[in-house]
Amino acid sequence: MKKILLVGSGAREVAIARKIKTSRHSSVLFCVSPTINPHISSLCQEYFCVSLSNNKEIVGIAKKFGVDFVVVGPENPLENGLVDDIEKEGIPCVAPKKTVARIETSKSFARKVLDGCYKEKNPKRKEFKSVDKVQSFLKELHENYVIKHDGLMGGKGVKISGEHLRSTEDALDFCKEIINNKGSFLIEEKLIGEEFSLMSFCDGVSCVHMPAVQDHKRAFEGDVGPNTGGMGTYSFENHSLPFLFKEEVLDAQKTNELVLKELKTITGEEFRGVLYGGFMATKDGVRVIEYNARFGDPEAMNVLALLKTDFIDVCEHIINRSLNLLSVEFEKAATVCKYVVPVGYPDSPEKNFKISCKNADDQRLFFASVKEEGGEVFATGSRTAAYIGKETTIEGAEKVAEEGVRGVSGKLFHRKDIGTKNLIQKRMDNMKKVRS
Ligand code: AMP
Ligand code: GLY
Repeated sequence: MKKILLVGSGAREVAIARKIKTSRHSSVLFCVSPTINPHISSLCQEYFCVSLSNNKEIVGIAKKFGVDFVVVGPENPLENGLVDDIEKEGIPCVAPKKTVARIETSKSFARKVLDGCYKEKNPKRKEFKSVDKVQSFLKELHENYVIKHDGLMGGKGVKISGEHLRSTEDALDFCKEIINNKGSFLIEEKLIGEEFSLMSFCDGVSCVHMPAVQDHKRAFEGDVGPNTGGMGTYSFENHSLPFLFKEEVLDAQKTNELVLKELKTITGEEFRGVLYGGFMATKDGVRVIEYNARFGDPEAMNVLALLKTDFIDVCEHIINRSLNLLSVEFEKAATVCKYVVPVGYPDSPEKNFKISCKNADDQRLFFASVKEEGGEVFATGSRTAAYIGKETTIEGAEKVAEEGVRGVSGKLFHRKDIGTKNLIQKRMDNMKKVRS
């Protein structure tokens, strides 16, 4: 009997919990998170309402129950050194230590790692701590720039010229806002093309790549509005995406492999867990937008729905540095995952309102930012619930996902366009235009 502790309680962690509980290995699952997600609590032996920054208490729980390993879902505990503190007690984690998690937690570090192993994947960029010389760099980039707060901002610390920043004045205001929050920032060349996510299981020395997925960061249909944690994702049965060449997927895989090696070289620490490359296919080839040190959310729902290999086996091979001995397989099916989010999300979301679901036990439904009180489920302000369709065709998967999210009601909205024929065609047309 395996004893496993899961850290976190969003939809991504529901996906992880379900994979653990449907493994061929029987297991006892524990969860730590400040709020109770009913889709996880129903699978757990014990659920501890603990702040995810309380390393001491989480380590105490892992020790008390003698867990075999810990799976960490979200990024903040990685930055807080939770993995370092747990592993000090001899308990392995499927997640990286703080030093190597900097590939996500520091955007400037991620760029430096790439400079060391695959420099051409980086866009032009400069780091700033003040507004001095910002204007001249914006000119150098021909006013095509992206300004990034250098830290963990939940995908919301990035503003783009021509979209969120309409003038140099807007740009300088955003820089000053970051400085006033005691932050530093990067200004990067704005990459033009189509984004995709390529995640790899990593055991420190080798990688197993997952199918490519496309997320939709913008809040509203037609890709407008503020950046969010991700409104929905899709993947194709061939594990590539219709706007990508095979060589581009291979190049993204190679980038993850080189980053894994470079992390060891420059930090002396091995990266174990999920390495998530956020890429842009451009006219000049694949470029890196960002790196994450964990499963993407919603990408986790897509790839875990397809993972045929036993998830506990994958975790154990990550821990034992033996991924090369495991044949990891993904189903050849298409997936579409859509999120419903509170009205006003992400800037001023409605909070603490009741939601109802047509079928709360449906395994394709994943509660996210919710809490259960008195047998009722309340949305707490961030993304509320995700629904995944997995079918032989993308059309079929989209239909299932769309019907599924519509079954969740409350003061919510979702993007109807994700995974639709129209939007995917738009992506392909855009890529064709970019390449021409
Ligand atoms: P990040 O937090 O780095 O993932 O950035 C959030 C979003 O901003 C990305 O998903 C992209 O849509 C966009 N973005 C970030 N960096 C760039 C870039 N250099 N060029 C174009 N878009 C970018
Ligand atoms: N889906 C984007 C992320 O997980 O960061």
